[in-house]
Amino acid sequence: MAEPVSDQPLVVGIGGTIGGISSTERALRIALDAAGREGFRTRMFGGADMARLPLYDPKATTRTPDETEFVDTIRQASAVIIASPGYHGSISGVVKNALDLLEETARDPHRPYLADMPVGLIATAYGWQATGSTIAALRSIVHALRGWPTPFAAAVNTQLTKFDEDGGASDAAVIEQLSLVGKQVARFVPVAIQHG
Ligand SMILES: Cc1cc2nc3c(=O)[nH]c(=O)nc-3n(C[C@H](O)[C@H](O)[C@H](O)COP(=O)(O)O)c2cc1C
Repeated sequence: MAEPVSDQPLVVGIGGTIGGISSTERALRIALDAAGREGFRTRMFGGADMARLPLYDPKATTRTPDETEFVDTIRQASAVIIASPGYHGSISGVVKNALDLLEETARDPHRPYLADMPVGLIATAYGWQATGSTIAALRSIVHALRGWPTPFAAAVNTQLTKFDEDGGASDAAVIEQLSLVGKQVARFVPVAIQHG
């Protein structure tokens, strides 16, 4: 008999861009689906979800329902995958704003920030240069949030690779790389739980 859905570990995707079709979000979906095939529940916070988050105010005394849902979902996660476009050589403000909101978990007794969680990373850019600097920025952020960036990060040059709405891409190697991000995150979770 199949296991109840709630017993499956959760991997949360954070990423994409706002304003319509997003190659970054499509890339993230491919990585999440790969984690799903390893037995994970998946939840995506894409561009439209991140756009509903107000600019993070650390001194605010109340949080919006969207902010609360985002933070509570991360609290339930066993793994995270972050996908950002390279904007002017680094991560986008929209993705950074969502990550800033994780400050709300700073005083969580069980797990502040992304402590001890595997975090997969994806960067898209219209050329190679910004993919590298965006991945480096994401790794620094994950270290600051006490997470464990998984070894392979996927760099996607959207000048060369086009995604379709059915989870496909014009370059099979890119699908393999994005799937590897999902697989590495999934494989690390039992290790993190065992030693957590
Ligand atoms: C504000 C802005 C800044 C960008 N800066 C860069 C950049 O520095 N280097 C680069 O290669 N592409 C840059 N791009 C292109 C995006 O990174 C690229 O098109 C990305 O794949 C967009 O993802 P999306 O399809 O999910 O919107 C920029 C795009 C925007 C809108």
